[in-house]
Amino acid sequence: FFLKTQIFLKSKGYFCDMDVLTKEQRRKNMQAIKSKNTEIELILGKALWARGHRYRKNNDKIFGKPDFTIRKFKIAIFCDGDFFHGKDWVTSKERIKSNVDFWHKKIESNIERDKVVSATLRKEGWTVIRFWGSDIKKNLNDCLMKVDRAIMEAKSVKYSSLKRHFNLDPRKLDGGEGLAYLTHYLQNKENTTGAIFEEEAEQYLLELGLAEDSEFQYELPIKYDVPFPPPLQPKFKFIDLFAGIGGFRLAFQNLGGKCVFTSEWNKFSKKTYEANFGEVPFGDITKIDEDIIPDHDVLLAGFPCQPFSIAGVSKKKSLGKEHGFKDETQGTLFFDIVRILDKKRPKAFLLENVKNLVSHDKGKTFKVIKGALEELGYSIHYKVLDGKHFVPQHRERIFIAGFDKAIYNGEEEFGFPELPDPSCIVEEILEQRVDPKYTLSDKLWNYLQNYAKKHKEKGNGFGFGLVDFEGITRTISARYYKDGSEILIPQEGKNPRKLTPRECARLQGYPESFVIPVSDTQAYRQFGNSVVMPLVRAIGNKLTEVILNERNSTKCN
Ligand SMILES: C[S@@+](CC[C@H](N)C(=O)[O-])C[C@H]1O[C@@H](n2cnc3c(N)ncnc32)[C@H](O)[C@@H]1O
Repeated sequence: FFLKTQIFLKSKGYFCDMDVLTKEQRRKNMQAIKSKNTEIELILGKALWARGHRYRKNNDKIFGKPDFTIRKFKIAIFCDGDFFHGKDWVTSKERIKSNVDFWHKKIESNIERDKVVSATLRKEGWTVIRFWGSDIKKNLNDCLMKVDRAIMEAKSVKYSSLKRHFNLDPRKLDGGEGLAYLTHYLQNKENTTGAIFEEEAEQYLLELGLAEDSEFQYELPIKYDVPFPPPLQPKFKFIDLFAGIGGFRLAFQNLGGKCVFTSEWNKFSKKTYEANFGEVPFGDITKIDEDIIPDHDVLLAGFPCQPFSIAGVSKKKSLGKEHGFKDETQGTLFFDIVRILDKKRPKAFLLENVKNLVSHDKGKTFKVIKGALEELGYSIHYKVLDGKHFVPQHRERIFIAGFDKAIYNGEEEFGFPELPDPSCIVEEILEQRVDPKYTLSDKLWNYLQNYAKKHKEKGNGFGFGLVDFEGITRTISARYYKDGSEILIPQEGKNPRKLTPRECARLQGYPESFVIPVSDTQAYRQFGNSVVMPLVRAIGNKLTEVILNERNSTKCN
């Protein structure tokens, strides 16, 4: 076999050791292999043809003479034999036992040439697809799907070019829900979920005068040229409530989830959300009917903490009616979570709140929350976790996970994750060159120092927080924009400075590709309100292990 550097001589009908051949014979055989070893090309070519794809073979006018080219969509396909193109080269090179130098040199130069060909074609605007021979033989269907996807992409219209037609400007973001319907529809039109948003989306297009416009191609597949596009083959569906700028969405999208609904009422947060995910959130959750929320597997919400009034409860009592925990939540934003859970029955949920939710209102708030969730038939797990295990920030938050008892019978194997030892330090997230505008003015710096001194004299611990470069910061809050006092960066020979918005993003574990399209003030509020994204992902990982593991459930398909 090839790996033993034997070669099958078709003319003779038997295997022959390459070493016994003269240089000339070897050259002839290699040429013969190159031109005749087309079994994999034949298999792929036939299958592509049968699927209706029309191509040209070995077009020598195109650099690298691809095995197949589909010119209309600028797609070039190569069928790479495993041995000659070095499949799994690091390990497979060890298996070559004779004529080692010759083969290593030969195959490594093939690998290099393949790289150059692919890079050159891509530069010329081609989509390059390379298949291994063994994949063509064993996973032909996957290969065909890859070609289909490339064709779909080539046919598709870019989200950024659609956006220009939608009047997607910030002033529209606190108007009606038209943009939310339209962008939700566009992200879901290829699956059944899209139908929920379709009518209102078309209504909005009518208002824009686009519905009848033949030039306007919103019905084509969309290529999401945003930093965090929806996954192509999602493993589960989730909804993102009190979405802010999408810290939960980012984490759960990373885990293979598809967001099918999102709500956030602040227009600046909506702007950041749309710039990163290509979807405008719906507004005030209290006004959203559960019927426009698609079915989903997981509900996510970092909801604001509010006290539960006893007014409604006393009224019920005086009328002699029994009241449940759910009634006690009326009129609060937590009630909106309860009503959505009640109607939509996701398999699981994950809620997040400040650490002292447990002690809020002398423990009553948490008692009502826990009671209401259990009354709905969910089994509850909760824990306070610190973001410092992933980022250089002390940020303790309570996470509440719940699983539908009708599915898991209260026996789900869920545990909050073991967190890695904290190892991140502030220095790692700082920018090298920082605009002087972030340095505190003399007036503000003097004020903060005097304020801290006054409180210290009174025995209070209030004050600014100058960071230790080797340590971690205090918790960044939504009010950081005011004076930045909780996290100040010392500077040599100068007053300390505030973090930049990008540094705040890093402090919450957001990737560099996250776009910050708003003013510094808005960005500070948004990151201060958000979550330590990698911590949410670690919890989400445990949660999705439960919902994606069929053994864990009785009716979880
Ligand atoms: C604690 S923040 C959640 C931030 C989010 N987890 C993130 O990663 O950015 C709560 C969010 O709820 C939003 N909010 C508050 N009341 C709302 C309402 N009635 N409808 C929709 N959103 C609301 C706020 O604007 C805020 O962005």
